[in-house]
Amino acid sequence: MSLSAPAIRARKRRNGSAPIVMVTAYDEPGARYVDAAGVDIILVGDSVANVVLGHEDTLHVTIEQMCYHVRAVAAAKPKAHIVADLPWLSYHVGVADSVRNAAALIRAGAHSVKLEGGRVRRDVVRALLDAEIPVMGHLGLTPQSVLTFGGFKVQAKTREAAEWLAKDAMLLQDEGVYAVVLEGVPSIVGTRITEALEIPTIGIGAGPDTDGQVLVFHDLLGLTNHEPAKFVRQYAQLGTAITEAIGHFAADVRSGAFPSDAEAYANPEDLLN
Ligand code: KIV
Repeated sequence: MSLSAPAIRARKRRNGSAPIVMVTAYDEPGARYVDAAGVDIILVGDSVANVVLGHEDTLHVTIEQMCYHVRAVAAAKPKAHIVADLPWLSYHVGVADSVRNAAALIRAGAHSVKLEGGRVRRDVVRALLDAEIPVMGHLGLTPQSVLTFGGFKVQAKTREAAEWLAKDAMLLQDEGVYAVVLEGVPSIVGTRITEALEIPTIGIGAGPDTDGQVLVFHDLLGLTNHEPAKFVRQYAQLGTAITEAIGHFAADVRSGAFPSDAEAYANPEDLLN
């Protein structure tokens, strides 16, 4: 049995729980590696649009594409909880549609769904929970708001904006979400919201005091082709390692060093005469 949403809901650091570890994955091998490392939550993020499909933002991924990636992740049968992003426009044009789209992610293998926004998403959150679908919230620098924000900009930088965000977090908690991602906010905002909430916060660029941390697979492993954001720590340079390995293969093919006899099937006697 995978880690459940209620079990995650109980993971508050101030009550002695270990910090929650969440990492994204988008396919079966990725999910297998992430699960073998012992993470708590695998996020099938709409960041698949950027890091796998080559788009500049997350607005170009559909519910069908998200279901495809959730199925691939679920095929790894991870011990970790699988949360799937509801992509942009899959929960913005009516509550009934939102429930149907969230149900599609659950039927593809997710254990819960994540959506962006606070008070404006209240009805949707309520309807999903009425349909028995656990919901994770996502506040702050919500990437699906990139056009209205005018770019990927740190949020809640004024007292008024920070208070607004804290109210949104409280509202999501009151509606019944089991955890909330805080992205791209000053550390003090991450600290204060974490202190105010009974449910866990999971930070990405929200400072050290949240109840957990999340990073994107490709950022963490050095598989992107751009400068990492300030909040990213790269634990490996797999992009460089991959190019070097494939370069060695290409050189061996060109020099005739690959394949060797050991890498070829033996010739049966019958074919030699
Ligand atoms: O899609 C994603 O990867 C996310 C994380 C940045 C939290 O939502």
